[in-house]
Amino acid sequence: MRLFVVSNRVAVSTGQSAPGGMTVGIEGALRAHGGVWVGWSGKASTDGSVSSRCVAHGNVDYVTLDLPPEKFQGYYAGFANQVLWPLCHGRRDLVAYSSGDFESYLHVNGLFADELVRRLGPDDLIWIHDYHLVPLARALRARGVGSRIGFFLHTPFADPDDLFDLPVHGAIAESLEAYDLLGFQTRGDLESFRTFISRSRASRRLGSVHLTSPPRADVFPIGIETAEFESTARAAQIVDTRLSAIFDRLGSGIAAIISADRLDYSKAIPEKFRAFGAFLELHPEYEERVCLVQVAPIGRSEIPAYALEAARTRSAYRDLRAAHQRAELPVAELLTESVDRPSLAAAFRRSRVGLVTPFRDGMNLVAKEYVAAQDADDPGVLVLSSFTGAAEELSGGALLVDPREALSVVRALRQALEMGIEERRARWSKMISVICRNDAAAWAGNFIESLRGRREAPHLRSTSIAPSRDAPRARLDFRAVRTAQSSWEVQAVSDRARHLVVGRAAPGDGARTAFVTNNAGVNEFLLRVRSAGYTTELLGPNGPVKL
Ligand code: G6P
Repeated sequence: MRLFVVSNRVAVSTGQSAPGGMTVGIEGALRAHGGVWVGWSGKASTDGSVSSRCVAHGNVDYVTLDLPPEKFQGYYAGFANQVLWPLCHGRRDLVAYSSGDFESYLHVNGLFADELVRRLGPDDLIWIHDYHLVPLARALRARGVGSRIGFFLHTPFADPDDLFDLPVHGAIAESLEAYDLLGFQTRGDLESFRTFISRSRASRRLGSVHLTSPPRADVFPIGIETAEFESTARAAQIVDTRLSAIFDRLGSGIAAIISADRLDYSKAIPEKFRAFGAFLELHPEYEERVCLVQVAPIGRSEIPAYALEAARTRSAYRDLRAAHQRAELPVAELLTESVDRPSLAAAFRRSRVGLVTPFRDGMNLVAKEYVAAQDADDPGVLVLSSFTGAAEELSGGALLVDPREALSVVRALRQALEMGIEERRARWSKMISVICRNDAAAWAGNFIESLRGRREAPHLRSTSIAPSRDAPRARLDFRAVRTAQSSWEVQAVSDRARHLVVGRAAPGDGARTAFVTNNAGVNEFLLRVRSAGYTTELLGPNGPVKL
């Protein structure tokens, strides 16, 4: 049995800075468990087809795909990042939906499914990551894959009301239901998911029948490679030339307040610059004693909202410097390129405050990395937005703030800078024990064990073969559970819905679809199922029925 991890972005292990929190977590998990990591190569295919290659590093095989550019655009910059991302971060005002983008999204998911089908063995476990790949399990099931498939959402789960406004909310719900196990960062995300699925099932029940309970879902807060990051921070020098020049200029007389975010409207970077400006106005004694160092690599720049956010960020930065820059000493620094991880780890260790203030964030691994990088004898203070997943785990030690309230950030900055060594140590030890216990390996181990441990598969679901008189009006008192790859057990049948028909889509394609009908119409119903191209077997209340 091998573990297949699938995500849009793959960090081929070169020691380079990973593009975001998701790849950091997955990389740690895969290093601990070994397996195959499948994702986009970062390149477009030249002739519109898909090409893939496989590179091995240690115990991980990296399989990367070049994707056709015309489909990639609608998939990545379209549906994933202009519909799902803003919805998941409470920015429905930024949603730009188009049915063409959704088709590209499904198409690219199909390409990933084709690649996986070529490589999967029967006992392999599949773990799919993030909002780019929601439909992948469904696409795999349609190709006959019977393996267990799990999904982990790295972002927050969208507000169910917002999701319902999407024309394709039904397809999204059905895609989510194709998984054996879904993992979320926080209890709030899990609740939103459950609300969305139960409302969606209620609306779909009007037209068809559900045979299964909703898929299993739980909370699995993602972790980092804590020990590895700590030792990197302890040993590393800042080799990034821009960052090392900044820290050289600060010397020991100016305390660094550090932030590292992808430049994204969910991260509230301009608001952070303004809050820092307010801090300096209210506490002028800190002028020339502190410097805000913001690392904010630019990405997704083909999307208008990101170009706008980059402009807002630069302008807030200019305003801050114009108002507070004195003489030669820097008041704030903004780096919009990515920085290698060892340099970042070393800079975190040298910074008195980690300032992590997004409006909304699934987890925010930078918060955990900042804690891991600290010197146990003289740790810095984490100032953390309450609207991050990390706040749920780190509330015992971090100073929690509301990024919309500049004053709450101002208060926390002052408290952080004035905090005595004893309190800093006490707060830090609470946080470090959480992130040591729940590191990347533990996170992945919990998820994988849970996925493996599932004994029931939820793949048996109803389908609508064109509405017909005899198609199931029956209430759903009919429950069927797959007990092994090839057998189905019917657990309870009402006297209204007597027969379960299990169809096979095509020879050699293991996909199974269940239809339910009432006793009276069974023969006509079977004919309809067969004429729709299915071969069938019939299950009655006590097991298979001879046809
Ligand atoms: C961050 C988010 C992830 C997301 C990733 C994608 O890491 O936390 O949820 O998958 O960004 O970033 P990209 O640069 O690939 O758009």
